[in-house]
Amino acid sequence: MRPQALGYLVVSAKNLEDWSIYGPDQLGLQRVDRTASTMAFRMDDRKQRLIVNADGNTTISAYGWEMADAAAMDAMAAQLESAGVRVTRGSRALADERCVTDLVALSDPGGNRLELFHTPHVANEAFAPGRNIAGFRTGPLGLGHVVIQSRDINPMIAFYRDVMKFGVSDFYDKPFTACFFHLNPRHHSFALIQNDKDQVHHLMMEYFAFDDMGHGWDIAQASERVAVTMGRHAGDDMTSFYTWTPSGFMVESGWGGKCIDPETWTPGERSVGPSIWGHDRLWMPPEKRKEARDLVLRNGANGLRRPVQVIEGNYNLMPGVCPWWDETMRKAT
Ligand SMILES: [Fe+2]
Repeated sequence: MRPQALGYLVVSAKNLEDWSIYGPDQLGLQRVDRTASTMAFRMDDRKQRLIVNADGNTTISAYGWEMADAAAMDAMAAQLESAGVRVTRGSRALADERCVTDLVALSDPGGNRLELFHTPHVANEAFAPGRNIAGFRTGPLGLGHVVIQSRDINPMIAFYRDVMKFGVSDFYDKPFTACFFHLNPRHHSFALIQNDKDQVHHLMMEYFAFDDMGHGWDIAQASERVAVTMGRHAGDDMTSFYTWTPSGFMVESGWGGKCIDPETWTPGERSVGPSIWGHDRLWMPPEKRKEARDLVLRNGANGLRRPVQVIEGNYNLMPGVCPWWDETMRKAT
C-alpha cells in the first residue's frame, strides 16, 4: 500500500505579503484568502494545493500524500504502525483546514511531518490562474514533485522505499547522492538528495504549455528571483528553471516531464545528469558551478539528446520529410 500522488503542501512563511505576489504573478497560482495569517493557493479544481501559514518559519511544514480512499488510508496507517511508526489521527478541524475528508499524520526519520489524506474537497468555481496560463499538469499525477535534502540520506531512502512503499525511479551517487521515487506515471513525485542540511530543496510545478513556462522565465528575470537558469533534466526530461520562494526554498517551473509505466518500470542508476544542458545553479560556489558546467558540456560533446515529451493538444507534427533527420533517427533506433 502506498499513496497515489503528492496532494498538497503546507508552507511556513515570515509573512503573507511576498507570497501574495509571488504565487499569482510568478507561478500563476490562484490566491485564496483564508485568515489573517493563512493564505491558500489553487492550481486546478481542488480547493487548495498550497497552504501558506505566516508562522514565522521558512520551510515546508507538512507534506500531504493522497490515498485512494478511507480504506487505503487506514491500511496505510496500519502498515506504518506495524513498521513501528507512530501515526496520529487528524482532528475534524485539521481536516477542514486542509480541505480533505480525513487524514492521519506521522514523521519521517528526518522529522518532516507527513499527512496521509483521502478525498480532497473540490471547488465549485473554475480555477482562475493568477497570470494568463493554460493551467498546470496535475490530476492523477498530483501537484508536481517535491525534493528534500538530507544530512543522513540512507535511513530516509529506506523509510520511503521500504515503509512508505514509494517506487524507486532511479538514483545516482555523483555529483551527489540522490534517489527519485514515483507513485504514479509522473517520473518522480518525490526525491531525496544528500546535503549538509535537513531541509526542503524544491517543489516542481508543471505547466501544460511550453510558452507559459517561458513567460514565467521572463517574469523571473525581471524580478531577480532566478535561482537556477533554464535547462533540461536527464531523469524526467523536464525543461525548467527555478525561482526562490519567499520561504527560502525553490520552485521549479517545468514543462514536458516524462511519464513512466509504474507497473513495468525497472529502477536503475542514472549515468548522466542531473541536467542534460543548462540549469546553472546560481547559488553554488564558483568551483561547484564549474563542475556542473563541465558535466553539461560533456553531455553536449557526447551528443546527449532526447525527444521532447508532449501531450495531446500542445504540439503540431511537421509535414514533409528530411533525409538528414530521417537518417539520424534511423541510427538512433
Ligand atoms: Fe525537480
